[in-house]
Amino acid sequence: MKKTTPSLVILLLTFLLTRSVSFAQYNEVWIPPIQDASSYNLNIYDTIKQLVPTGNQTVTIGINGDFWGPTLVLHQGQNVQMNVTNYLNDSTTVHWHGMHLPAVMDGGPHQVIPPGSTWSPYWTVNNRAGFYWYHPHLHSMTAEQILKGMGGFLIVQDSEESALNLPRTYGSDDFPLVLTSRKFSSSNQIVLTDAYGDYMLVNGTRNPKLTIPKQLVRLRILNVENERGFDLGFSDNRNFTIIANDGGLLNAPMTVNRVKLMVGERIEILVDLSNETIGSTLELMAYNANQAFGFPGGEPNTTGAFGSLLNNTNFNVLHLVIGNPTQTPVVGIPSVLSNQTYWTESQATVNRTIQVTGGQPGIPFTLNNSSFALNTINYHVQLDDVEKWTLVNNQIFGHSFHIHDVQFKITSRNGSAANVGSHEQGWKDVVYLPRNENVTFVCKFNDYSDALHPFMYHCHFGQHEDGGMMGQFVVDQTNSLSELAVEKLILKPNPVEDKLFLIGLDDPEQVYYIRIFDQLGRTMYMLPKPNLTNGIDVSKLPSGNYLLELTDQQTKSIHKLRFIKK
Ligand code: C2O
Ligand code: CU
Ligand code: CU
Repeated sequence: MKKTTPSLVILLLTFLLTRSVSFAQYNEVWIPPIQDASSYNLNIYDTIKQLVPTGNQTVTIGINGDFWGPTLVLHQGQNVQMNVTNYLNDSTTVHWHGMHLPAVMDGGPHQVIPPGSTWSPYWTVNNRAGFYWYHPHLHSMTAEQILKGMGGFLIVQDSEESALNLPRTYGSDDFPLVLTSRKFSSSNQIVLTDAYGDYMLVNGTRNPKLTIPKQLVRLRILNVENERGFDLGFSDNRNFTIIANDGGLLNAPMTVNRVKLMVGERIEILVDLSNETIGSTLELMAYNANQAFGFPGGEPNTTGAFGSLLNNTNFNVLHLVIGNPTQTPVVGIPSVLSNQTYWTESQATVNRTIQVTGGQPGIPFTLNNSSFALNTINYHVQLDDVEKWTLVNNQIFGHSFHIHDVQFKITSRNGSAANVGSHEQGWKDVVYLPRNENVTFVCKFNDYSDALHPFMYHCHFGQHEDGGMMGQFVVDQTNSLSELAVEKLILKPNPVEDKLFLIGLDDPEQVYYIRIFDQLGRTMYMLPKPNLTNGIDVSKLPSGNYLLELTDQQTKSIHKLRFIKK
């Protein structure tokens, strides 16, 4: 006895020690490189990344990298030009989630980028300062491409937000965090068919830790789960302050100790770490145990299509280690952040109701009993109308509803304004629609009409939108545009070395779309509503013969012009 007891203790100690050592193997969270420019090149590749600690690397999709893309800064009032080149073997699209822009620049399922081609949308940024994102939106492929890691952050800056004393030094006191989880096959590949992942990734980092300065910090958090919601809080139950959500700053900060964040939603919070000890730790947690029935990720199963090791449990999202403060920490939280007036239900002149339908075993979810079809326009909205949309979910499961083009105001839940959460005040583009509930929002469809390219509304759960839980609307306007006089159009110089000019246009606004094809008919460039004053940059095209197709804004008819690249 006397001999065995100490050896058992040693064994136990060794076991505990190795356990704690293996738990302590955190990886510092990757903070995507930030870029601040007026034109961005996004190159999308099939690539690989070591997402599982041992064994095979995982096939991923990277944008200028191996998982997730750069953080792009956009300035309100300025033009931004995107050059998106698809080096994947599949088609894709890139959607600017939350941006208010012309439908033809939106990057929804209609703005397909074939393999090997470059799509060059541009727009004038008019969103409020806030935290937005970009991601693929190819119909029936969205879940797979997002699960493989394709996406990135957008940070919009404006004078209102810049004037406030808030932490905004990227990666120093202001951290962007994308929360997502993955399930891996026995060969370490991402499981693309299941609803939930088993292992959390923060900015694509597994077992993530963030060294965070001992001061007031800002966390910008985005949920890019396939379906899971998070009920976020800190392991010591501390209060934190919500300053912004999807569409930018709230009018006043809100103090809470929990916040629910559903797929596609963003939240910006301030956390005061000034009283912590350097070297101490804190967990950002998901308190997902015992959520109301129908909460995505509340299922009891740990395996199978709706199973996950993280289901119906409280789990660590991010391990925070308190580090040295920065030189000039921001102190204090402004009591007033903004002064927005929101649309009210009585201002709406059009009411629409959207029911969650389908979803019986083996049948995909739909909206109003109609499954998404690329050629079906579900609604025609009149430019400048204020509309009230009521979403009705008489079913057993929650959904995360998103609309393109506009930011909306959530005016009521289950018929009462008092049920709207403190975390969802402010402008929103995603709203959680729990089981057996309804929610109403009001929005105005201003600035951008386009009879040809629609905007989407859909559930933001990957498999739900891919499965047809999506619809589309076009914004119509009544005034007409003049037809393009094409007889006199020529391309100059021809042959061309770098910039190609269209000569003979009365009004450059008359050009709706330009596509450039090579001799094999492959799309090389797609230029929606191109700004033609500086010419079309064709310097990257290999020498040869090309066909330029120009679409008329008014008639949408196509005109063809040929040119030679030197
Ligand atoms: Cu985040 Cu339809 O998009
Ligand atoms: Cu969107
Ligand atoms: Cu859904």
